[in-house]
Amino acid sequence: MSENLFDLSGQVALVTGASRGLGQGFARALARAGADLVVTSRRRADLAPFVEEIAAMGRRAVPLDLDVRDEGSIERMGAAAEAAVGQVHILVNNAGCNVRKPALEVTWEDWNLVLDTNLRGTFFVAQRMARGMIERGYGRIINIGSVTSVFGFAGLAPYGASRGGIRQLTMSLADDWGRHGVTVNCLAPGWFRTDQNKVLYESQEWVDYLVDRIPVKRPGAPGDLDGAVVFLASEASRYMTGQTLLIDGGISTGATRATVKTDPVTSKKDPVTSKGHL
Ligand SMILES: NC(=O)c1ccc[n+]([C@@H]2O[C@H](COP(=O)([O-])OP(=O)(O)OC[C@H]3O[C@@H](n4cnc5c(N)ncnc54)[C@H](OP(=O)(O)O)[C@@H]3O)[C@@H](O)[C@H]2O)c1
Repeated sequence: MSENLFDLSGQVALVTGASRGLGQGFARALARAGADLVVTSRRRADLAPFVEEIAAMGRRAVPLDLDVRDEGSIERMGAAAEAAVGQVHILVNNAGCNVRKPALEVTWEDWNLVLDTNLRGTFFVAQRMARGMIERGYGRIINIGSVTSVFGFAGLAPYGASRGGIRQLTMSLADDWGRHGVTVNCLAPGWFRTDQNKVLYESQEWVDYLVDRIPVKRPGAPGDLDGAVVFLASEASRYMTGQTLLIDGGISTGATRATVKTDPVTSKKDPVTSKGHL
């Protein structure tokens, strides 16, 4: 074993939904830590520039097709991954989608799209890849959750249900597979600007509202999740399983109250917030 607890040399990490956004960031961070990659998209051709980038780093990335809403596609991807690289040591279950609507407007189709992709997809990809991990007695599974895994947000009913489900699924799988040397944890990001939510960031009013509620006073930026994903993928997290790690600039502390400049009950100015420190 390497003396560096975060060294992933000699390991292979499979990242689903690595064509863009957070998934591509996770894959890049794992490659920088020494891992070779299997990366997936519903359109494998979209992965070509990223495969080249990883090759330029001296690492290998095998691009594969995967639609997590299709049972056959999961089986074909799993078989192709094992045929190409032999053993997959690390799985990052990142592929996901969102439908942002008031709860009264959510349709049956919206619900199925979000739950099938995020929750059912996460489970069946984990199940497919865990077979080999259990056989070999080693694996690291990282399910991507969200602050909505633990808190409610208006307009995100199906999404929040899927992310809350992922947190619970993580605990159940951890209990099931821990005895086989496979750890299962959930990495729960806060708010990061990606294709999935860029429409929100086009509104300055929304960005101000968001930043007001984040103790470190900015949304997530590229690289902010790198340390957490490498930690969960590596020897460094060997005694940790079934947990949800929130990387969110502190929004889950409930920081909204800190922004009140005048106490609504006493009408007194707050000594800290009224000076503009927050
Ligand atoms: N951005 C945030 O603030 C945030 C916060 C917390 C959690 N998350 C979660 O983190 C993950 C990545 O988010 P992101 O913001 O990077 O989103 P994104 O830019 O929309 O990327 C989503 C990825 O998921 C893949 N995907 C979507 N549907 C799929 C399907 N049916 N089968 C296989 N792959 C599918 C897409 O791949 P192709 O289109 O190439 O197939 C794409 O690579 C998602 O699960 C998201 O919900 C995001």
